Amino acid sequence: MPPKGFSGDRAFDVNDDTAPNAAILFEVGYADPTQHLSSATRRLRMPPATDLTTPPTYPMSQELGGIDVTFRLMSAADRDLMLAFTRSLPERDLLFLRLDITQDSVVDFWLQNIETGKTVSVLAEHDGELVGYCSLHQSSSLWTRHLGEIRLLVSSDQRGKGIGGELARQIFELAKPRGFLKLVVRMMSSQDDAQALFHGLGFIPEALLNDWTIDRKGRTHDLIVMSREIEENL
Ligand SMILES: CC(C)(COP(=O)(O)OP(=O)(O)OC[C@H]1O[C@@H](n2cnc3c(N)ncnc32)[C@H](O)[C@@H]1OP(=O)(O)O)[C@@H](O)C(=O)NCCC(=O)NCCS
Repeated sequence: MPPKGFSGDRAFDVNDDTAPNAAILFEVGYADPTQHLSSATRRLRMPPATDLTTPPTYPMSQELGGIDVTFRLMSAADRDLMLAFTRSLPERDLLFLRLDITQDSVVDFWLQNIETGKTVSVLAEHDGELVGYCSLHQSSSLWTRHLGEIRLLVSSDQRGKGIGGELARQIFELAKPRGFLKLVVRMMSSQDDAQALFHGLGFIPEALLNDWTIDRKGRTHDLIVMSREIEENL
């Protein structure tokens, strides 16, 4: 008997109001509704992937949602730009950050990781101001070195224009030559926008961890892990 909210062979579609979303799937206590299947079978059940085949070249500009957005790779020269961006974020965005990127030391550590190649970050700029970024981090643990972790943030006044989706698409492309087998993204269960975005890029929910995170106000939240394999590297 399949759990409530799991629809067997049916691919989930975020645009379909009747489709189960990650929260519903997880509510029934199944960390991954396809966990009893082999990974080969699970791949067959993944939702159709968006076309993620164009390799990015930087800097590059695109018109998105009526504004010109320039994408480029982050470097040490972007320290102050990044700190200005993170310090301008509204409290509701800071609430959900995994690391406190408003702190000098945290951004310095991020830049060190970029220098050593453990992290690659793509910045999105409009009118000389940062409007978003997406990072890909290599795990420092030996047994999870095949995983690339994505972190993504778009300025709240520029959302819904396709910037987040484009950043994630570019990071997916950058992950391929780096040999990652799987990309993962972690978010709080209330971050519906992020779940919809990654689902649209072919990511599937892997796990729900109850009360796994605590926000800046001391409230606990469930954590969702979503992932997508990089077929070319398997
Ligand atoms: C998640 C986030 C990056 C989305 O950025 P964005 O620039 O608004 O996203 P886009 O405009 O590119 O939307 C991409 C897709 O996501 C989906 N999506 C985004 N917001 C959505 C919403 N509110 N409801 C439903 N779907 C949504 C859509 O499917 C959209 O596809 P479309 O282009 O076919 O409409 C942004 O909301 C954000 O920074 N959130 C806070 C940080 C966060 O949650 N990060 C992710 C975890 S690390």
